[in-house]
Amino acid sequence: MTDYSVADYVSDIRAIVGEETDPRRITERIRPLATRLAAAPGWITDEHRACDEAQGFGVHLLHEEDNHDLAVFLISWLPDRGTLPHNHATWAVVAGIEGQEQEVEWVRRDDGSKPGYAELERAGERVMTAGGSSACLPDDIHSVWNVGDEISLSLHTYGRHINHTGRSEFDPEARAERPFVVKVEDG
Ligand SMILES: [Fe+2]
Repeated sequence: MTDYSVADYVSDIRAIVGEETDPRRITERIRPLATRLAAAPGWITDEHRACDEAQGFGVHLLHEEDNHDLAVFLISWLPDRGTLPHNHATWAVVAGIEGQEQEVEWVRRDDGSKPGYAELERAGERVMTAGGSSACLPDDIHSVWNVGDEISLSLHTYGRHINHTGRSEFDPEARAERPFVVKVEDG
């Protein structure tokens, strides 16, 4: 299993999106492959562990197609840092590599008709560790937090590069919705 590479993974997920259109089916089929790549971390370099202090996490692009589809990232998270609730506006698969990442699921309670406004309710949480995985459909809302004492690493795969989907982040206390664009490292 240790010979499974990022290139092998990209080849496999290209085949899946060539056969499936339903995001649920796509993520179901990709999850075991993401877990397999996460369990063979010979491809991870010291640079991949670099985190952006201002952002709280480092987003390292491993692959995207020329049109920004099929984006694969290694994300490194500083301890006690993470994201606000956000959606992806594309399907997403996350696989744990190192550390403990808490994932909180949120449900939107308003109808989305008022620009910049959103009411969110916390719906559940779990902690992902090495060997674990999770999936999101395009409208699902979650937040991620590194609850461990060390930098955590996880593999993230999206139907489209997350800075090219027009997705949102949410501030539940301020009841605000705004565009969510992350700083991305090349590689
Ligand atoms: Fe996310």
